[in-house]
Amino acid sequence: MSNFSELVPERIRALPSYVPGKSIKQAEEETGIKAVKLASNENPLGPSPLAERAMEEAAHTIHLYPDNDAAELKQRLAAAHSLDPENILVTAGSTPLLDIIARTLLGPGLNAITSERSFIVYPIVTRSTGAEFRTVPMKDDTYDLDAIAAAVDANTRLIFLANPNNPTGTIVDAAALDRFLDRLPDHVIVALDEAYYDFAAYFARERGIEYSHSVDYVRQNRNVVVLRTFSKAQGLAAARAGYGMGPAELMGYFARVRTAFMVSGVAQAGALAALTDHDHYERTMRNNLEGAKYLLSGLRQMGYHPVETWSNFIYCEVGESASAVGARLQQEGIIIRPLTGSWGAPTAIRVTIGTRQENERFLLAFKKVMQASAAAK
Ligand SMILES: Cc1ncc(COP(=O)(O)O)c(C=O)c1O
Repeated sequence: MSNFSELVPERIRALPSYVPGKSIKQAEEETGIKAVKLASNENPLGPSPLAERAMEEAAHTIHLYPDNDAAELKQRLAAAHSLDPENILVTAGSTPLLDIIARTLLGPGLNAITSERSFIVYPIVTRSTGAEFRTVPMKDDTYDLDAIAAAVDANTRLIFLANPNNPTGTIVDAAALDRFLDRLPDHVIVALDEAYYDFAAYFARERGIEYSHSVDYVRQNRNVVVLRTFSKAQGLAAARAGYGMGPAELMGYFARVRTAFMVSGVAQAGALAALTDHDHYERTMRNNLEGAKYLLSGLRQMGYHPVETWSNFIYCEVGESASAVGARLQQEGIIIRPLTGSWGAPTAIRVTIGTRQENERFLLAFKKVMQASAAAK
């Protein structure tokens, strides 16, 4: 057998693995206790029923290769956003699109910049190209756009900006982003990751602010690629469908890098149907809004300071090892995300907003394990 470590470049050997949230099956096998998963920001109401039906139907033709270009979905998305189809690229969720963007724009000698405590896929896709990955500190649990702008140099090609950010759930508003984009040189592209767009837009309506007008940047042909996904609001995380919106020429280059037949016919059918499911969408948003208020107030009553969320999860400092808290919660049948390792917040947890019943279960379990920990000190 070859010595593979000699064949695989150092930049690949040094990559951290992406560690997903623990699955319900794995947690239940470990504890023997029925588990609730609040670890991966999935939709607690399940998939859009219209999407589910469309996907069952599409399964009958799964022996045929899908439309490589997802033309119907692309058309529908273009019409919904008043863009040309050439401005859209459909991918198998937004994670592969992050990888495509990095592979297209980065390489040895170049760099990408983002904030600390942001999405853990950014360092992986950047470093796998041989480029340097730079992070700057946050300000008040939010992206510090001034610090990012100051870190840009002649070799910067990409800025990853998660808005809302995962894991802190915070946003930069539309006016702040406008000012930031005006400051960037022409050799820098912003990957504006709006995986949680729908939740933030819903909160923004309630809170009376302008959160994002990202699609305007695309209409103006700015150096911005907006990433959206069907994994969250539409509840299609396992189907794998997402898309990017950006300058037509750039999207054309990304299309060359995208693997052929990346988005299954089942996923395309599900995504198309989900776009018409206003009832599921509204129920999802209302559940999230009410769940956010309930969890934030419950955690505050216990003396914690969770960060105000603009998304479908809550970030909370727990003042001790988050892994230990996560392990104790698992014993109570609750899976959350300890923000250790690449997440960069070893004493903080992220909990996905669930159904009312799941949220109640989480708060009860959290109170129990934190009181037990305080008593043991
Ligand atoms: C900030 C952010 N971007 C992108 C994604 C990727 O989602 P998907 O690949 O399912 O579209 C996630 C998923 O959790 C995320 O949190």
